[in-house]
Amino acid sequence: MTNRTRRDFLQTSILGAAAAVASCHRSYGQVGAVRGSANGDIRVAVVGLRTKGLEHMLEYAGRLKGARLVALCDCDREILAARQAECGKLGVTPAVFRDYRKLLESRDVDAVVLAPPNHHHSLMTIWALKAGKDVYVEKPLSHNIWEGRQAVAAARKYPKNVVQAGMQNRSSDDIKEAIAYVRSGQLGRIQWVRGLCYKQRDSIGRTTGPQPVPAAIDYDLWTGPADLTPPRRNSPKNGTVHYDWHWFWNYGGGDICNQGVHQLDIARWFLDEPGLPPSVISFGGRFGYRDDAETPNTLVTAFDYPRAPLIFEVRGLPAKAGMQAMDAYRGTRIGVIVQCEGGYVAVSETGTAVIYDRQHKILRKLAESTLVTHYANFVRGMQTRQVFTGLIEDCHLSTSLCHLANISYLLGAGTSPGALAEAIRADASSREACERMLDHLRANGIPAGEPTVLGPRLPIDAASGRVVGPDPTIRAAANACPIMRRTGRGAFAIPVIDDRPVAAG
Ligand SMILES: NC(=O)c1ccc[n+]([C@@H]2O[C@H](COP(=O)([O-])OP(=O)(O)OC[C@H]3O[C@@H](n4cnc5c(N)ncnc54)[C@H](O)[C@@H]3O)[C@@H](O)[C@H]2O)c1
Repeated sequence: MTNRTRRDFLQTSILGAAAAVASCHRSYGQVGAVRGSANGDIRVAVVGLRTKGLEHMLEYAGRLKGARLVALCDCDREILAARQAECGKLGVTPAVFRDYRKLLESRDVDAVVLAPPNHHHSLMTIWALKAGKDVYVEKPLSHNIWEGRQAVAAARKYPKNVVQAGMQNRSSDDIKEAIAYVRSGQLGRIQWVRGLCYKQRDSIGRTTGPQPVPAAIDYDLWTGPADLTPPRRNSPKNGTVHYDWHWFWNYGGGDICNQGVHQLDIARWFLDEPGLPPSVISFGGRFGYRDDAETPNTLVTAFDYPRAPLIFEVRGLPAKAGMQAMDAYRGTRIGVIVQCEGGYVAVSETGTAVIYDRQHKILRKLAESTLVTHYANFVRGMQTRQVFTGLIEDCHLSTSLCHLANISYLLGAGTSPGALAEAIRADASSREACERMLDHLRANGIPAGEPTVLGPRLPIDAASGRVVGPDPTIRAAANACPIMRRTGRGAFAIPVIDDRPVAAG
């Protein structure tokens, strides 16, 4: 979409609605109360440098205006040295730290950008706020709902510090315009919203027991608030420690908590739902290979929001056995479909959107993808002490949806396709998603007798975030699940700021 057509679009009757979508924000301290170096640049440290952190590092090492890289932190000595050398080639000489706590003692750092594994996000956010630093924290906000709640409470307790979450779709003008279009009523009522994460994930292989930690990694620091156990994985691509932690409950939450949290957040944003749904149910499994990983590679979750159902689908296997290509739903593999009475919106992985009528004819194409502005929006937020995008509360809520989906799955039991279909017969959205999931498994040659895990429907008390309902066994198991609440380990205990047992809203 050109600037001209975007302007034309904004001149239409939905102008007010578009402004409203974009205007939710949070203020921090006094406007203009910017710290920083003598020349006014905000001094930034990047933490966790292997993959996503490298991208952040390069932004602050020269691309972004108004902020500059002054420090690097990674508990892997080799990665730290490699990134330091790369900075040297760019003419940047950051201080280096292996221990994040030492970094926080530095008075030469105004802000931290956090890109370590998920299980560090909440604790590192809380510690940084306590140390008076501004924070950009990668998604998801937490490993479990309770610690995410502590991070949100910390943002309120230390209101002078800016916090922005790494949910870059929140900086998409295309999505804001599409939401405004839907809220203007031109497509009628929303009937359902579907989030899709069809992303190929191969086997990580199978080990026979505990694996060694490379000498370059300080494993106590790497483990942080998680349970200290030896790694039980060793993939050719990532070795025994890095990246594959996504597929182990002690650290990650599978692809719904990885790629999926972006699309769940967009879906919830369209629905304009500021809280948790009354109930959640999941079914799926880890199909197609036997490997070390614990999380499902196939998962369907139904969140029964009163406005309209939100269905989320994860698929890690391809469209058919032996293929590379993934399935698509209405042309979308990773994205969101918002079905309304008079048409639908399809949001892509890159945060662009197309609006269709009921006959699948394109009404509007919003294709300017502005996701990359999320970094600059953080700098602007620090300069103005106002965050307009990527609020920690939104990240917490959407992360909590992922956790609830996983808790239902974790409490489930293996069942046959017939029994699964029977169990969800009354719920049209789950039924339709289930039929397509079973077709997908058949196309991948998964034997018909392979059990699918069906989780219980978890009734949620939106105010407390706790699982309620008539079954005391399910209630107790869900509320005791470490994905609901884990308090940390030794020196890495999560500070208790909000002492309600669990609260996701
Ligand atoms: N916003 C996005 O689109 C996006 C994209 C990719 C990844 N991410 C997020 O970024 C995070 C990192 O992902 P990744 O793929 O780079 O993971 P990774 O495992 O490849 O890298 C993580 C790095 O963090 C380091 N680390 C671990 N514990 C540390 C500690 N205590 N102190 C300092 N460094 C520590 C590791 O040594 C490693 O270098 C994840 O939470 C992921 O969800 C976000």
